[in-house]
This record gives sequence, structure tokens and C-alpha cells, in this order.
Amino acid sequence: MTGPVLAVDQGTSGTKALVICPERGVLGTGFAAVRPRPLPGGLVEADPAELYASVLDAGRRALTEAGEPVVAMGLANQGETVLAWDPATGRPLTDALVWQDRRADTVCHELAPHADELRELTGLPVDPYFAAPKMAWIRRHLTADGVVTTSDAWLTHRLTGAYVTDAATAGRTQLLDLDTVTWSPRALDLYGLSGERLPEIVDNARPVGTTGVFGYDIPLTGLAVDQQAALLAQRVTAPGTAKCTYGTGAFLLAPTGTTPRRATSGLVSCVAWRLAGRTEYCLDGQVYTAASAVRWLADLGVITGAADLDTVGAAVPDSGGVTFVPALAGLAAPWWRGDLRGSLTGLGLDTTPGHLVRALCEGLAAQVVELAEAAAADLGTPVTLLRVDGGLTRSTLLMQTQADLLQRPVEVSALPDATALGVGALARLGAAPGTTLAEALPEGKPSAVYEPRVSADEAADRLGRFRAAVTALLDGAPA
Ligand code: G3P
Repeated sequence: MTGPVLAVDQGTSGTKALVICPERGVLGTGFAAVRPRPLPGGLVEADPAELYASVLDAGRRALTEAGEPVVAMGLANQGETVLAWDPATGRPLTDALVWQDRRADTVCHELAPHADELRELTGLPVDPYFAAPKMAWIRRHLTADGVVTTSDAWLTHRLTGAYVTDAATAGRTQLLDLDTVTWSPRALDLYGLSGERLPEIVDNARPVGTTGVFGYDIPLTGLAVDQQAALLAQRVTAPGTAKCTYGTGAFLLAPTGTTPRRATSGLVSCVAWRLAGRTEYCLDGQVYTAASAVRWLADLGVITGAADLDTVGAAVPDSGGVTFVPALAGLAAPWWRGDLRGSLTGLGLDTTPGHLVRALCEGLAAQVVELAEAAAADLGTPVTLLRVDGGLTRSTLLMQTQADLLQRPVEVSALPDATALGVGALARLGAAPGTTLAEALPEGKPSAVYEPRVSADEAADRLGRFRAAVTALLDGAPA
């Protein structure tokens, strides 16, 4: 198939759109910010109208810059963000409950006796991060009307009229049978969602409908949850390799092939993608706050934004004894303590913004090391190479800290927008089924490779301090 595709990554903090051509690269880019609302009590909401408007806005900008028509479109989504909506009109009936939202804790507590069964069935622990608890909460507290789905099903319906979700996004609900990749009657029953009209589960690359919102008919042929789209784009296939995307949160994924493998080290087992009916699986670990922790530091006035991390951090040689567990929306894998909040210890009168920045970078990187070690335990082989993408990979300080603490090379994607590249490749595969992945996704050289610069002892020492701070949090005692 020739001709460019429009790849749209509808993320938590914004929508990025690229017009991509395998032969000529990126022809146009567009971005539209989204401002999720953090509310007291661990609630995080987004305005569905803003999500949809951002897709249109970013898409139009990219198409205008490219100045030529596209032959297909792909749409990546945030994963576990949920809303109720009217399928007759497409009108939202609730705000979107963002994946970081913790209000469905109560639903999860009730399901605690069934946690092992649900994990075996769906590959996921019972936690309000996933879609099903939030769907159940909406049904109990907000509305019994319309349908309740992840945000992708609503956006796809708005764009094309189709009522579908892709296999990977369905795998983020805790309603998907991991072995059969179909809705699980048992999981639906446990969540009290048996009567729901759920979207059809489709392959990640196939035509689902046509959208005219950009002025002419464009087939929508690629759908994916954002992390899995980035995994595809990063071409992480060799044993012992993993990818990490540093977006609003940070997410480490490692492929496990065509057999669903239950994680035993605290990670999530889920669908990577289903192509032509063939399902591939992966392990997934989450850091709930990455760029949102950087934004928190900026909101406090310590830095002006992510672009400041390197300059402010460069003012000091180390964190000056400050340890930051940036669990500002709780701890996910491998601890699953979303109820906990972050800690900042070792502060002194001599603590400067540079120390705080370095402590934040260490805290983020240390969490990713924990995820890599959990993945290694499940895979039976160490993670020897980490491929990374996302906006925060622009920070040399964070990436060097990551390589130092991991004690392995960290390869930065040629483009930080791996998610859009991945869903663009899916769109191309879906539009022209004979296309190979190599044709749909030309290999790019990494933009940088960070090698560890500190000794293993030094890395172990710094990780030890972080782990002690996490243990103190878990024990409920100050560090
Ligand atoms: O699970 C949520 C995650 O996929 C959201 O990604 O890029 O918006 O942080 P991002």
C-alpha cells in the first residue's frame, strides 16, 4: 500500500498526531494538550469533549502540515480510562474517569476474596487502575443508562459509528479471558456487569469503519492501547529486551510470545496485540506518575517544566542524601499499593532544587529497575537492553540515571513518539493485509545510547536507599 497514514496517540496529557510515510518519514505533526483534573481523594477526571476535540485538533494540524491526503488512520488510547455514553447519540453521560483515578478502591475491596481467581482468568490483579472497577463504580454511583466503556470505544464510535475495542485494550479491563481473548462471563458476573452491552473485540489491525471528520473519508484500520503500540514500534522481540515509555506514567513492557504466561513477580500479564487472529502477549509494569511527578515539581515552583530537569539537576553532583519515592498516585507493580502516597526524605537546610530534581530522577529510574527485575524473574532471563521512548527521554539526566541504576544500556528511540509510530504501523497493516511489519515500520536507529557510568556497587547502594524508603512506606513508618 502506498501513501501516508494518520497516526493519532490520544494520551493522558495530550493528543499527538503524526502523518507518517514509510519511505519519506514523518510528513506532519500535531499536538493538542489535555488537562486531566486531579481532585481530592485520589480522583482524576477528564472532560470527554476535550479528549475528542484534541483528536480532531491534533489530527487537523498534522494533516495541514503534511499537505497531502492519507490513506488510513490509526488511533492509540490511554488504556484504562472509562466513561458512560449514549450509543444512540454518542453523547457522554459522565466525565471520563482517568486510569490514575482511585475511587473504585471500594469495588476492589469487595472483590478481594476473588482476587486470585480474577488474576488467573484475566492476568491482572484487582486494582482500581484497571477499567472494570471504574465501570462498576460508574454503574453503582453515576448512571445505569447507555454503555460504559474504555475511552477508545467512545472515540472510535464518534469517529466512525463502529462499536468496537481492540484485543489489547480489552485486556486492560479485567473483563477479558486471557486465554480465549473473549469477554469473560465470570469476570463480568463478579463485577456486576453481566447485563452490559460491550463493544466487539477486534484485531489491532483491520478496517473498523470510515471517518469523515477531517474533510474526506479515511478508513480507521489500526487500534491499540498506547503502551502496546510503543512496544510494537520499539521492535522489542529478543529475549531479555524490554521497552519503557516515559509519559504521564512510565510503563515497562516485555514480550512473552503467543502463550499467555501468568506473571508471578507482581507484573501484569496481558495481550500485546492480536493480528490476523493470532494473539501475542506481554508482561507489563507501571509507574503511575512520571511526567505527572515532574509537573508536580513544576507546579510547586521547583522547576519550570521537564525541559529544566537537566539544567537544574546539573547544579549539584548528586541528590545530597535526599530520597524521593514519587508515588504521587500510589505504587503499582510489583507492590500494588495504590493507597500509598510518595515520600521525600533526607531533606536539610542545604537541600536545593537540584537535589530534588536528582532525587526525582533516581526515584523514577529505581521504580523502572524494580519492574525490569520483576520481568527478568518471570522471563527467566535478565533484561539486558532497555529501549525507551516518550517525552521524558529528552532528559539526559533521567536517561543516564536509568542506565546507571539498571547497569545496562538504555537505547533511546529515534523519535520520542513511538506510540504514534506503532499505531501508524498497525493502521498500515490493517489497510493492506499483505504488508509485512518490516514494510509497515521501517527500522530507525536509536537517537542515543546511554551506558552505565557508575559501578555496580554504587548502583546497588542507591537502589538500596530507594528500597529502604519504599519498605518504610509499605510498613507505614517514616523512613
Ligand atoms: O495505562 C495508562 C497509560 O497507558 C497512559 O499512558 O502515555 O498517557 O502516560 P500515557
